[in-house]
Amino acid sequence: MTDTCPNVLKEWEQRFIDCLQNLGQDHDDDSHDFFHFQRVWKTACQIMDQDGAAADRLVVLAACYFHDVVVLPKNHPERSKASTLAAAKARELLQHMAFPEAQLENVCHAIESHSYSAGIVPETLEAKVVQDADRMEALGAIGLARVFYTSGVLRQKMFDPEDPMAAHRELSDRQFALDHFEQKLLRLPETMQTNAGREMAERNARYLADFRAKLLQELQGDYS
Ligand SMILES: [Fe+2]
Repeated sequence: MTDTCPNVLKEWEQRFIDCLQNLGQDHDDDSHDFFHFQRVWKTACQIMDQDGAAADRLVVLAACYFHDVVVLPKNHPERSKASTLAAAKARELLQHMAFPEAQLENVCHAIESHSYSAGIVPETLEAKVVQDADRMEALGAIGLARVFYTSGVLRQKMFDPEDPMAAHRELSDRQFALDHFEQKLLRLPETMQTNAGREMAERNARYLADFRAKLLQELQGDYS
C-alpha cells in the first residue's frame, strides 16, 4: 500500500480534472459524463472510510476518474471490451502526466475489472472499491434516473404494457427498461466486493424494488 497525503491527492485530482476537461467528451451519453466520475470517486471514499482503510487512495482516485474514458453504447457489439480500451487510454494519459509507474498497473486493473460486461474479477482492494462504487451508480435514485435515460437514448420502451413483469415471455432489457431491473440491477448487491458496498447496494436495490412495485400498482390503476 502507498499512502498519499490529502494535499497530494487533491493536486492529482485537479490534474485529472484538467486532463479530462482538455480531452472533452467524444460521446453524447450523459450517464457517463464527468459528473459520473466525480460521484464514483465520492462513493469510493465512503466505501474506503468504512471498509477499505488499507486501499491506495491515489490508485482509486485515478481509476474513478478514468474508468469510463472510453465509452461504448450498451448495444455496441464491442461493449464488453470498453473497459480494456479505457485502461489502455488511461495508461497513455497517466504516463503523459508522469503518474507513479509503480501504481499504474493497479489503476489499469481497477479500470479493466470495473465493468459488468467484461466479467474480469477484481483482484486488488482498490479494484474492488472502484467496482462497488461504480455499481452504486446503477442503484438508488441515480440508478433509476440513469436506467430510463439510457433506454431513452437507445429508443427502447419503458416497459411491456401487456406483461411488465415478463410472466409469459423472456426478459429482454434490450427492448424494455423495466426488464433491466430483473436482469441486472436487482442482482447487483450479490456482486458487491466489500461489506460497505454490499450494505449500500442492498439499501438502494430496495429503493428500485419499491419503485417497481409502485409502478406495477399504477399500471393496475391503483394510484393510492
Ligand atoms: Fe462508470
